[in-house]
Amino acid sequence: MEDLILVAGATGDLGGKICRSLRIKGARVRAIVREESSSEKVVELRESGVEVITVQFDDEKQLIAACNGVSCVVSVLAGLSDVIIMAQSHLLHAAIKAGVPRFIPSDFCTDFTKIQTGENRNFDLRREFQAILEAGNIRATSILNGAFAYVLQYGIPLLDTKSKSITYYSGKADWQIDFTTVEDTAAFTACAALDGNAPRFLRIASFQIAPTKLAILAESIFGEAFELNEQGTLEQFSAYIKIIRAGDPEGEKQLYPQWQQMQYLYSMFTAHHNALDNDRYAGLIWQTAETTLKGINNKKA
Ligand SMILES: NC(=O)c1ccc[n+]([C@@H]2O[C@H](COP(=O)([O-])OP(=O)(O)OC[C@H]3O[C@@H](n4cnc5c(N)ncnc54)[C@H](OP(=O)(O)O)[C@@H]3O)[C@@H](O)[C@H]2O)c1
Repeated sequence: MEDLILVAGATGDLGGKICRSLRIKGARVRAIVREESSSEKVVELRESGVEVITVQFDDEKQLIAACNGVSCVVSVLAGLSDVIIMAQSHLLHAAIKAGVPRFIPSDFCTDFTKIQTGENRNFDLRREFQAILEAGNIRATSILNGAFAYVLQYGIPLLDTKSKSITYYSGKADWQIDFTTVEDTAAFTACAALDGNAPRFLRIASFQIAPTKLAILAESIFGEAFELNEQGTLEQFSAYIKIIRAGDPEGEKQLYPQWQQMQYLYSMFTAHHNALDNDRYAGLIWQTAETTLKGINNKKA
């Protein structure tokens, strides 16, 4: 029978793009949304040919009904424990009860399997959900895409276009960092959702670039030299983040407090892909680092 993909988180940035990529491929797509989801986004989904069902994520019957006849559930939910553990678990257990064969969890990050517990709060949640997922009778595929390439436009220490500097950590000047655009992640995830033979992990990157190469590329695109700043060791950075986190209990309730952004930077310099699955599906075109930096430069102009 024709594949039917269920997307949770379809009103979000990545989820909406996954639905679009699936529809371009001619796939049947069903989205589950909440009462409080943006009605504008729901209309957009319906107009693109997505079947939209409104559910309460703690209503098992509704979730099982939504999972009926589905070949793969793609979770693109974003949030803390109440979402990544609770809501995703409800969805996972409903999918298993409905006999859905495959589940793609909302990982979409740097390779969290290589990061120690306690170093990245948002990755710890993914690891906790991974244990629940792997205990269930369902085949899982996690997409690990490094950092979304758009983070480079936010003036993060790795690419500070104001001070024209590039920060890295001891011994990491030539460390390749994984970046993937949201669009490339969506196009690849759509292929993976339709791939009955997809393995447990798929590792992708639109581009991989090291601080030294980033400095050369940034100079050529922004027209000024970028200074390479070594900012101590990763161990020192990790210890510093722990102090900042301890002083910000409110941040525990936020998805991206300042210390979590630092944890992400730490993770980018701690784990990277040694091999990429980019070529698993034919016809995908990956955005280059050059195009990404040119886009940032055009926005500034
Ligand atoms: N690698 C990276 O650099 C990077 C960067 C950003 C995000 N990500 C990851 O990419 C994935 C998608 O993120 P995104 O930026 O696309 O997120 P987003 O735009 O904020 O969308 C989040 C989605 O989750 C749904 N949601 C939130 N809370 C919910 C709840 N309690 N119950 C049910 N649904 C809920 C939202 O639905 P409503 O419309 O109903 O609120 C929305 O559809 C996440 O795993 C995120 O962590 C990775």
